[in-house]
Amino acid sequence: MQNLGILISGRGSNMESILKAIKKQKIPIKPSIVISNKANAKGLKIADRLGVKISVIDSKDYKNKRTEYDKKVIHELEKNGVTVKNGLVCLAGFMRIISPYFIKKYKNRILNIHPALLPAYPGLNAQKQAIQNGAKFSGCTVHFVDEGVDSGPIIVQSVVKVTNNDTEKTLSEKILAKEHKIYPEAVNLFARKKIRLSGRRVKILD
Ligand code: GRF
Repeated sequence: MQNLGILISGRGSNMESILKAIKKQKIPIKPSIVISNKANAKGLKIADRLGVKISVIDSKDYKNKRTEYDKKVIHELEKNGVTVKNGLVCLAGFMRIISPYFIKKYKNRILNIHPALLPAYPGLNAQKQAIQNGAKFSGCTVHFVDEGVDSGPIIVQSVVKVTNNDTEKTLSEKILAKEHKIYPEAVNLFARKKIRLSGRRVKILD
């Protein structure tokens, strides 16, 4: 069985949806470690309650030292079996850009969730960008992490309608509900080796 490491910075609701789905839907992957770069991340308590090992690697002294910080994260991942051969790393509200070193080392083994239909609205405040641009539809995307910002190959997406009355808050809530469905779905596809990458295209096997 492969080992899963989840990186968080805050609320951890996507992490929670993945951990619960692994149990409920019997996804064949072991949740081995949840790592936060912030000691006060709410998600740490949730992971702990769900019986998953937690670890804090504080990033406050590593603002411009991405590779140095990521080497500490990689050490913790490897210690817990999340290796380049047998691991999956999920970024779930992890508010740091990860280094090319980390991305190269865990090539095609790092996933991220973004609250927009990429390639539209990458970066911060994606829901606000959608509202401000008058988008009629938005949604969320699970993608492989490459060296750009939210630019890696797309694995799963889900669409929501933007109505006249939507605000950044209501749109974020609608999108979050979809995030909680598609992130576990993508982990399941990865765990069952149903994902084939061909250039920038991700093909899902039946
Ligand atoms: C989510 O909206 C996710 O799409 C974005 O950051 C937020 C994290 O929320 N990358 P949570 O910590 O998973 O609740």
